[in-house]
Amino acid sequence: MAKFWDRKEKPFVLVVFLLPLAWMVYSLLTGRYFPDPAEPLMTLSGIWASVAMVGVLLITPIVKNTNFKFLNRYRRFVGLSAFFYALLHLLIYLVFHAGLSWQWIIQDVLQRPYIYIGLFAFVILLLLAMTSTKKMMKRLGVNWKKLHQYVYFAALAIVAHLWWQVKSDITIALWVTAFLAPLLLMRIKQFPLLKNFFTKS
Ligand code: HEM
Repeated sequence: MAKFWDRKEKPFVLVVFLLPLAWMVYSLLTGRYFPDPAEPLMTLSGIWASVAMVGVLLITPIVKNTNFKFLNRYRRFVGLSAFFYALLHLLIYLVFHAGLSWQWIIQDVLQRPYIYIGLFAFVILLLLAMTSTKKMMKRLGVNWKKLHQYVYFAALAIVAHLWWQVKSDITIALWVTAFLAPLLLMRIKQFPLLKNFFTKS
């Protein structure tokens, strides 16, 4: 079992990661979300980016408190999945929602400030993805850990992004917050930046 888990699980993990993407491409090609695919595709990509965020933050407490040490191997992969689905979310916004019209995008961003905070979370995820290699880890040394603690600010920004846009249905915002809030609260003591943020506000 251990051997199987050690060597052969990677393709299965990759398939699980690609399933939401495959579903989105299939739905798009078969016209499932016709005539306006932007909204459902944005919701799906946003949900999967959030699921991966919850996943990456869950790995540390699980590894610390259980025997599932092998999960450490997937931290980078799950983190990159969060970035990948957030990037897809952004591309869907730019292509399907905005039709690549920069004038429309500027108007929209000015009218809906929750987009700034989504962009803020995305920029953090981008920086973390760009510095996630072993080479960058060595190059940044102690600063690597500090930089990667910004994942908690990305999580906070995602919670704000979701509540800020709520009109009547709070289901998604509530589920994502229910998972992210305890994970954030657990880390406050270990993370002076977040501690100061909470004690000041
Ligand atoms: C890259 C910058 C981002 C932009 C421009 C953006 C924009 C948007 C927009 C316009 C919507 C509303 C779509 C609609 O009208 O149905 C939305 C929804 C959503 N976003 Fe983002 N977002 C960004 C980043 C993120 C990130 C980083 C996450 C999570 C990791 C996220 C998660 C979600 C979720 C789950 C929804 C659906 C919420 C609901 O239907 O209740 N977004 N986003």
